[in-house]
Amino acid sequence: MNNVEINKGFVGPGMLTAVVPGEIFTSPSSEAILMALHAVGSGSKSGTLIIAANYTGDRLNFGSAMEKAKLDGLNVEMIVVGEDCALQSSDKSAGRRGLCGIVLMFKIAGALAEEGKSLKEICEIVKHASENSGTIGISLTPCSIPGSDSSFSLGSDEMELGLGVHGEAGVMRLKVMPAQDVVKKMVDHMTNPESASRLDVKKGDCVAVVINNLGGTSRMEMNIVAKETISYLELMGLLVERVYVGTLMTSLEMAGVSITVLKVTSFLLNCLDAPTSAYAWPNCYLPVGAKTRFTPEPIKLYSLASKVPDLEAAGPQISQKGEAIIRQALSFSCSALVSCEKQLNCLDREGGDGDCGSTLCKGARAILDLLEKGLELSYPSQLLLTLGSVVERSMGGTSGAIYSLFFTGAAKAFIDQCTANTWCYAVELGMQAIMKYSGAEPGDRTMLDALSAAHRALSEELQRNGNDSLEECLTALKGAAQAAEKAAVATATMKAKAGRASYVNADRVNTPDPGAHAVGIWMRAVYEAVKQQIRLRT
Ligand SMILES: *[C@@H]1O[C@H](CO)[C@@H](O)[C@H](O)[C@H]1NC(C)=O
Repeated sequence: MNNVEINKGFVGPGMLTAVVPGEIFTSPSSEAILMALHAVGSGSKSGTLIIAANYTGDRLNFGSAMEKAKLDGLNVEMIVVGEDCALQSSDKSAGRRGLCGIVLMFKIAGALAEEGKSLKEICEIVKHASENSGTIGISLTPCSIPGSDSSFSLGSDEMELGLGVHGEAGVMRLKVMPAQDVVKKMVDHMTNPESASRLDVKKGDCVAVVINNLGGTSRMEMNIVAKETISYLELMGLLVERVYVGTLMTSLEMAGVSITVLKVTSFLLNCLDAPTSAYAWPNCYLPVGAKTRFTPEPIKLYSLASKVPDLEAAGPQISQKGEAIIRQALSFSCSALVSCEKQLNCLDREGGDGDCGSTLCKGARAILDLLEKGLELSYPSQLLLTLGSVVERSMGGTSGAIYSLFFTGAAKAFIDQCTANTWCYAVELGMQAIMKYSGAEPGDRTMLDALSAAHRALSEELQRNGNDSLEECLTALKGAAQAAEKAAVATATMKAKAGRASYVNADRVNTPDPGAHAVGIWMRAVYEAVKQQIRLRT
């Protein structure tokens, strides 16, 4: 091979001076290695250290190149790293392969070389460190070698434990399981006292850990594995002083990860902490301001549930009759939304993802549940705040946030009175809260179209007819429900300017907006509830 290019220092100060890659998953030729040794070693008195992973081809080719280089007068030493803990036999020939632990050896050797340590010293330290490290890998997929088939196949519910880095299969096949169990399995395998290839660790040992991406694992999953690994090692009584998460040694695009554990002393930690500009070397997980890693105490969470409502500041109280009306209104409107779940989902399939009915239904069921358990109804302001947090928790997502804003905003209306006008004002404040944070306005083809039409009708009727008697209020409520329904129907021909439907081609959506339709449904139910309560009394 005569097309090898060596860029001295390319790999980064503090790490390697050169790498000699072979074809995919094969050792480089000894000629290529020899050229590299000349490129970095000619004229150097201090010498060159080869760090090779323990594969037969690598051992042979690097060994042969080293012998030739020595004949050429170069000062070369070699360390073979084999920290694989996969093979569990006690047979010595079933040796340990070199896996991601080798990257820690690059780092340690690089730091020592920068410090000016001798080749002999570096060799001893790195050899000792590599004997105190262990690696185990797991994967959900094989990798695909460009131009050929994947080397093994895995079912979608299977995982392969104990892989090498050349696409070869592992030592054990497992069913997929949660990250916590996977990590336990891996670490137990790595430290299994029965195994000849184990890493010996005991309580109180300080360790550095590498969570290595085998190529196709998402960052989120990498960090989940990191968290579980730290927890489990700490449970074993180890002091996890450094954790590196990165893509350091891959099997192309294999969706898997390996865990490397290195027993460390403060001397080795200094080497790991030494600066390097090698771009793939990851920053360590460290709490802010800390020089060494530890797991901070979890922050005490502010409890939302234990908040006791302050009835002094709860605003006006309503009569028992008022409570009965509110109970009926909540019960009717929530039941109506539950029974319309499918219909609303259907409408939502046109411009959204078809879950509007189900989401509203979740909130409605949560409120009905609370009503059954004895929801405090006598303070409208407190009641609305409670409804706000109930819908937020039970519905989640955008709809939950919108209705939560609505109730929380509306609660502000009840300062000293609780008349029909106050309720009308509450609807206005609720709408304002939604508009402030959603950026949507009436006319954008959202639930605000129905809500604002209802509010307008309510406020006009109350002004025109007065609000002294319950009958007058009922007339106003009827007007509001009708206006909401009419406005919801009208959204069918409007162009969406906010919400999910605004991302969909306007020609495709010609049914009413489900959010607006839902407002019509619960408004009508509120009207029916009030009507029934009034009729009961007369
Ligand atoms: C390398 O693997 C061979 C078997 O292939 C084994 O005998 C040897 O102990 C291993 N070397 C290291 C350093 O792990």
